Amino acid sequence: MKLLLKGGRIIDPSQNIDAEMDLLIENGKIAKMGRDLSASENNSTTVETLDLRNALIVPGLIDMHTHLREPGHEYKETIQTGSEAAVAGGFTSIACMPNTNPINDNRSVTDFILKQAGICNMANVYPIAAISKMSEGKILSEFGDLKDAGAVAFSDDGNPVTNSRLMRNALEYAHPLDMTVISHCEVLDLSTGGTMNEGSVSTELGLQGIPNVAESIMVERDIALADYTNTSVHIAHVSTAESVRAIRAAKARGVHVTAETAPHYFTLTDEALREFSTNAKVYPPLRNMKDVESIKEGLKDGTIDVIASDHAPHSSIEKDVEFEYAASGINGLETSLSLSLKLVDDDILTFHQLIEKMSTNPARILKINKGTLTIGSDADLTIIDTQKSWTVNVNIFRSKSKNSPFQGWKLKGKAIMTIVGGEIKYKET
Ligand code: NCD
Ligand code: ZN
Repeated sequence: MKLLLKGGRIIDPSQNIDAEMDLLIENGKIAKMGRDLSASENNSTTVETLDLRNALIVPGLIDMHTHLREPGHEYKETIQTGSEAAVAGGFTSIACMPNTNPINDNRSVTDFILKQAGICNMANVYPIAAISKMSEGKILSEFGDLKDAGAVAFSDDGNPVTNSRLMRNALEYAHPLDMTVISHCEVLDLSTGGTMNEGSVSTELGLQGIPNVAESIMVERDIALADYTNTSVHIAHVSTAESVRAIRAAKARGVHVTAETAPHYFTLTDEALREFSTNAKVYPPLRNMKDVESIKEGLKDGTIDVIASDHAPHSSIEKDVEFEYAASGINGLETSLSLSLKLVDDDILTFHQLIEKMSTNPARILKINKGTLTIGSDADLTIIDTQKSWTVNVNIFRSKSKNSPFQGWKLKGKAIMTIVGGEIKYKET
């Protein structure tokens, strides 16, 4: 079976391509790219031709920070529903965080995730294994064994690695394995008890705040450790101006640090919590306008390499409760691309930069063979209609959970087709 995509605008930052071209997919791989490719040259097998005039064709988007909740919390999300949400949101690959139950800190869990993902046969799923056993921050997990099983990175996401010696060891062990350590930066002494950003809104609402320094102190520590050990570190979900400043300065002096933010950190502020809306409760918390501006600057100047969804599905059991008791997390896979396309509309990023942050860079940081449309590579592609207007409706989310603060928002731009390994896994109807 062959698939011929006609007339779209192909943007592939990995090859510096931005041109109107046709693209032929054969046996699950990118076979040809060029002007006026015709189906008739390929009369030996069936060719399905898709007219994609006015659409963008980009390397399949990669979400490097997803929570799939299986094993253990299948009522929130399963590998099946999470992968369906992924392709509906335009993601062909997702890397899933280890904070399941049991935690993915040993190869049996990694094996299980990969097996389930294989059965689902929807998006490519890349397990991220825990840095420490049970993500308790005490004993390192078996890095070599986990890599062998197919884990692509290490993180205790959901929890910080408070012990600096353990973090140092994690960086030094991961380095020769060519694996990335992803750090959830949170100084618990400063954050514990807090439920939202510390600032005027938290004061007005009478809620205990979490200050920016709860994040940025650990960002500075991890930069110092990566610098000292000459290894690399990736900072998860950056939310503050101070973190952006620290990462920018570290990059300028050659420290191997990369960073991601999530769409809610450049779209919302803590004002979203005025109605005590638990769907806007997330860790790290939504900050203020100054932070939002810094995040955008960081995206624009390359300080922040990646936009990741931090898709954190939670059910109404955890969200329809008093603000203080609600779980933290935002359902992100099905809104992430559209919220990010706004950055292009607002002239903060070019399409080229956006696709770098949502495909090329995550592939490079996770060291996976994706994020490119070079001839012979896997035919993972996302087709985007940048003009399509739509309204977020959580009731038709593929995700099992509905915890989106963007319910009812009118957005512009959407993935209209998602192709994984040459197969159409999602098509807008
Ligand atoms: C995440 C979750 O629910 O697993 N929650 C969140 O608010 N971001 C954990 C995390 O990413 O830290
Ligand atoms: Zn986290």
